Amino acid sequence: MRKKIIAGNWKMNKTPSETVSFINELKDKVLGVEGDVVVCPTFVCLKDAVAAAKGTNIKVGAQNIHWADNGAFTGEISGEMLKEIGVDYVIIGHSERRQYFAETDETVNNRLKAALKYELKPIVCVGETLEQREAGTTNTVLETQTVGALKDIPADAVSKMVIAYEPVWAIGTGKTASSTDANDACKFIRSVVEKLYNKEVAENIRIQYGGSVKPANANELFTTTDIDGGLVGGASLKIDDFTAIVKY
Ligand code: PGA
Repeated sequence: MRKKIIAGNWKMNKTPSETVSFINELKDKVLGVEGDVVVCPTFVCLKDAVAAAKGTNIKVGAQNIHWADNGAFTGEISGEMLKEIGVDYVIIGHSERRQYFAETDETVNNRLKAALKYELKPIVCVGETLEQREAGTTNTVLETQTVGALKDIPADAVSKMVIAYEPVWAIGTGKTASSTDANDACKFIRSVVEKLYNKEVAENIRIQYGGSVKPANANELFTTTDIDGGLVGGASLKIDDFTAIVKY
């Protein structure tokens, strides 16, 4: 049985003090929840977030990682830095990074290798745009992105990682993929992993759905066969909504 994982992707929202208040409020509400609960604030909030989450069942994730250990990469953050401050997870290849910051399957793969090197748990995002879905190329896109992300990544690491299926047209738009479509896509990604590795790896890897997850649709999405939780944007910024999603 795969353990569910609900992660809040806060994007460029919440200051350090807002981050700490949110975690302080959230920790009692999610006490005893069985699945993994993760919040991913911005880089400047991570250290405070880790301190606030200490001794709770909330884990902290970053929203990006550079592939180099250090060096002349203005504006970037390395795995070594994230590890030292106690970050557990890292989101890689979010569609906003792909769309606005020239992220490619190759850079996603490089960032994933860095995350694994520093024993950070990666959440790798894949997903098709509206044009790609309408053109009937969803599966081709998902396969290309998954194969590209996992290039030269060993099976044992893939077993433990998380992929987030996030159809671009559903992100921040209020449009959610139907639970059937979302589950089919997650199942398809799992089949790609099985083809690349084996059945056991495919059964172990956790695949989230992301894109306008809210309290009203979380249960339907997360009780399907292949969706192992959610990567939640907008609704993860509101304590009541995020709590309701975590407790779907
Ligand atoms: P959303 O964002 O829940 O606001 O659609 C999801 C995401 O981008 O991870």
